[in-house]
Amino acid sequence: MILLINIAFILALPAVAMAAPKPAERPLSAAAAQGRMVAQIRCASCHAIVSDRASPNPQAPTFPELAGRFGEHSLQQKLTEIEETGHFYMPPQRVSSADVANLVAYFNTLPQP
Ligand code: HEC
Repeated sequence: MILLINIAFILALPAVAMAAPKPAERPLSAAAAQGRMVAQIRCASCHAIVSDRASPNPQAPTFPELAGRFGEHSLQQKLTEIEETGHFYMPPQRVSSADVANLVAYFNTLPQP
């Protein structure tokens, strides 16, 4: 039985490898890749997170715009402020400081507008 499971696992491996997303043209650092994932899951419903799109919510600045405005410290500050006081149309986003750093690493891969 265990042998069967092992064989199934080995057979499944190439399928998993093939299902993995294609690498971007420029490989991202681990931090930037994590930042992009956070952005995709938590920010992309409103903010454009890639450079050639308009934001789904036209009032939300695009990520390349945010990248030009914020570094790690100021992004952390801004998100804390948004979390505490609300920020017009943006609902509070609790983002860990590790993920703020990851988001900024991703910001830094975006071409400036
Ligand atoms: C439900 C929609 C929504 C989501 C989700 C969202 N945002 Fe926003 N965000 C907005 C809107 C709209 C604005 C611009 C209006 C405003 O400032 O309230 C904004 C503004 C901001 C600003 C301030 C820009 C400035 O120059 O003052 C930052 C920084 C920001 N968003 C980062 C993020 C990050 C990072 C995430 C994901 C973790 C995220 N947002 C998720 C809608 C959203």
